[in-house]
Amino acid sequence: MEKIQVDIKDVLQTVSKADIEALRPEADEALAKLTDGTGLGADFLGWVKLPTETSEALLNDLIAAANNLREHCDAVVCIGIGGSYLGAKAVIAALGNQLGTTPAGSPEILFAGQNIGEDYLYDLMEHLRGRRFGIIVISKSGTTTEPAIAFRLLKSMLEQQVGREEAAKLIVAITDAHKGALRSLATTEGYKTFVIEDNVGGRFSVLTPVGLLPIAVAGYDIKALVAGAREMEQATLTGADNSAMTYAMTRNALYRAGKKIEILVNYNPNLHFFNEWWKQLYGESEGKDHKGIFPAAVDNSTDLHSMGQWIQDGERIIFESVISVRDQRHEVRIPTDSDNLDGLNYLAGKRVDEVNKMAELGTRIAHVDGGVPNMRIVMPRLSEQFLGQLIYFFEAACGISGYLLGVNPFNQPGVEAYKSNMFALLEKPGYEEATKAIKSRL
Ligand code: PA5
Repeated sequence: MEKIQVDIKDVLQTVSKADIEALRPEADEALAKLTDGTGLGADFLGWVKLPTETSEALLNDLIAAANNLREHCDAVVCIGIGGSYLGAKAVIAALGNQLGTTPAGSPEILFAGQNIGEDYLYDLMEHLRGRRFGIIVISKSGTTTEPAIAFRLLKSMLEQQVGREEAAKLIVAITDAHKGALRSLATTEGYKTFVIEDNVGGRFSVLTPVGLLPIAVAGYDIKALVAGAREMEQATLTGADNSAMTYAMTRNALYRAGKKIEILVNYNPNLHFFNEWWKQLYGESEGKDHKGIFPAAVDNSTDLHSMGQWIQDGERIIFESVISVRDQRHEVRIPTDSDNLDGLNYLAGKRVDEVNKMAELGTRIAHVDGGVPNMRIVMPRLSEQFLGQLIYFFEAACGISGYLLGVNPFNQPGVEAYKSNMFALLEKPGYEEATKAIKSRL
């Protein structure tokens, strides 16, 4: 079976194999805690065996719900934020046409609730006006403000366009089985619903209906995605493949050696949102107790013309993890030009990807020479199977890495601070004291 692989040879100028191996006993213990549920945040380990535990019946139900939306809608808006947004966005972007369109016959996939931009919502509603659209509204808590605002607006618009009864057939809600405003609303309105299990946190939920339904609506093979994740789950948990362990140990050895920032690098524009998903997974899981690697990301070669200077010559507190995709989906060769006015004939006949690969290799050598350790995560190609593997690989490594760092990787207490200030400033009922306190500071 082909699998993604991790190559750490270009970090060995900074940390030795012995430094990395010294973490193995702790990493073994971390993996054991993930499987036996004895570590911090053990209530949120539902993702660990999720791929093998996902039933064929659930996948078929998701595909049926997706087909209903595909049949009746020209556009589907996925409403959600954080873990209820980024996984679907990342996979759809990675598998999609480079210009952002979905495969022929699939509805346009749009996103809302991932910001509170008034102009964003205005433009989105104008774009949808008079069109056949559906909504997938996703919130584990069912109470998050950003998606709730977007849903209120789009639900009302859809009901005005097709009537309340028809609108209810075009809305799918994904939320907690029992709790939250979205659950009550979905029950009252009679929406089709899917459940996010209590023991799977938002940023680990891409392989639940949260990610799978939008991905299926976009026209991609969710069974192959889950199968890929299953391959990596089995390989990781049986020890047949220890790439997640290697990645977790190596990044922690680098962190302990003073490398505080990890930059996830890609050379495929359609991995931009995969970077965003990864930033959330690691940022929200590890940035705690005044500790944690800061997860940053670049899209190359684009960002070699912006952040490249900083990475080559700035403060030496960074390391890079490069997602290197071996095969492209299409072949484009650079033509010969008899005038050669642009001087590019030395590239004539070469594939564009050959140039990209040399940019990647040249950059790696330059960055390593400049004191930036580089790890490579090599993927055969961007397919459902290998994206499934990559997702599980990063999730498992994140759990192991969080335990190596000594934090609870599965909570996010820090995100509450902005919310309570915002509610106090907006004078939400129940926040009267906080409102007084915050207003006295203005
Ligand atoms: O990872 C997390 O738990 C968060 O990023 C959530 O996904 C995000 O805050 C959205 O929460 P909810 O799905 O409850 O609306």
